[in-house]
Amino acid sequence: MLPINDFALARTIHVVAILFWIGGVGFVTWVLMPALKAIEPPQDRLAWFQKFEARFAWQARLWVLLAGASGFWMTARADLWSRFGEGRFWWMHLMVALWAIFAAMLFVIEPRHLKRRLAMSATPAADFARMMRLHQLLVGVSVITIIGAVGGSHGLF
Ligand code: HEM
Repeated sequence: MLPINDFALARTIHVVAILFWIGGVGFVTWVLMPALKAIEPPQDRLAWFQKFEARFAWQARLWVLLAGASGFWMTARADLWSRFGEGRFWWMHLMVALWAIFAAMLFVIEPRHLKRRLAMSATPAADFARMMRLHQLLVGVSVITIIGAVGGSHGLF
């Protein structure tokens, strides 16, 4: 029996997790939120957004865990730690930073504070607009991270 190439397996899990995680965030940002903005009056958008996002949040948590575990596995397996001391591997730093931001949002900030605060919001229209800007920023940084990671790990720069 052929030995399993565990690095390649971890890379496969990593890419599939990133696909559904960032793909989902992209869908929320570029399809769901603009659709709510076009269909719903400003004061109702936040409540609808929360209903839809709640369905995605648990899936995003799973993808974030898998992406982090597989990324950590690859780093440890190939002993890539020294990359974090080199500026040309900026995309490695970016991957970890982006992961940490999403992990904090999904596991700590959203369930502990944001969920309740938004449910009782006195300014739902402004909060929805702020959430939309935040999602656009996160998708933008995610796209830069993916371009950096694929390009960086395949010799583009
Ligand atoms: C704890 C967080 C993370 C760690 C430790 C990590 C680690 C790694 C490692 C070690 C590689 C392989 C690099 C190589 O082969 O030279 C990799 C590849 C990659 N990572 Fe991450 N990563 C993390 C999070 C992320 C995030 C948040 C994204 C995107 C939003 C991401 C996207 C990618 C992509 C697209 C590749 C390239 C896959 C390929 O083209 O084969 N990673 N990651």
